[in-house]
Amino acid sequence: MANKCAITMTVNGKQYHSEVEPRMLLVHYLRDALDLTGTHIGCDTSQCGACTVLLNGDSVKACTVLAVQADGSEVTTIEGLAPEGSLHPIQEGFWEKHGLQCGFCTPGMIMASYQLLKNNPNPTDQLLKNNPNPTEAEIRKGLEGNICRCTGYQNIVRAVQHAAEQMRTAATAPVGAGE
Ligand code: FES
Ligand code: FES
Repeated sequence: MANKCAITMTVNGKQYHSEVEPRMLLVHYLRDALDLTGTHIGCDTSQCGACTVLLNGDSVKACTVLAVQADGSEVTTIEGLAPEGSLHPIQEGFWEKHGLQCGFCTPGMIMASYQLLKNNPNPTDQLLKNNPNPTEAEIRKGLEGNICRCTGYQNIVRAVQHAAEQMRTAATAPVGAGE
């Protein structure tokens, strides 16, 4: 039996201590050890993006990272994007704009969308921190690592635009007006 490595990881705000085989992929650790099956596996070639999660705040394909490489890191999966019982604006966008059909690609699409919106502050207003306003081309570029076999992508673009609009509205809300 292969030697196991001790790892500590904070996933969706909760700390886990585990013993894993050195070859175990992060996506398998999340799904099989932590039972966080919202992160999907759609290929074995690092192409589909269904496994996308946030590692220390930036999106990665969890099938390209070993669990031991994420030792000491903070990971956010689709289950941790919004507090229990609520939806993140990006999730709301996919709901409102019908950004999915079978839904298999959706968790990865949403996590990749998070990254592209995070990297896209509105250049017209530098005072607002969270003020994304991506063009359609920027959205398509930001999601080019994620494959959807159902939607034709148009509604996914609309979903991200809707999310950006919601996030801009939230960002301009007066302090104390809630999330
Ligand atoms: S399962 Fe990771 S990119 Fe397809
Ligand atoms: S909704 Fe089916 S793969 Fe994207």
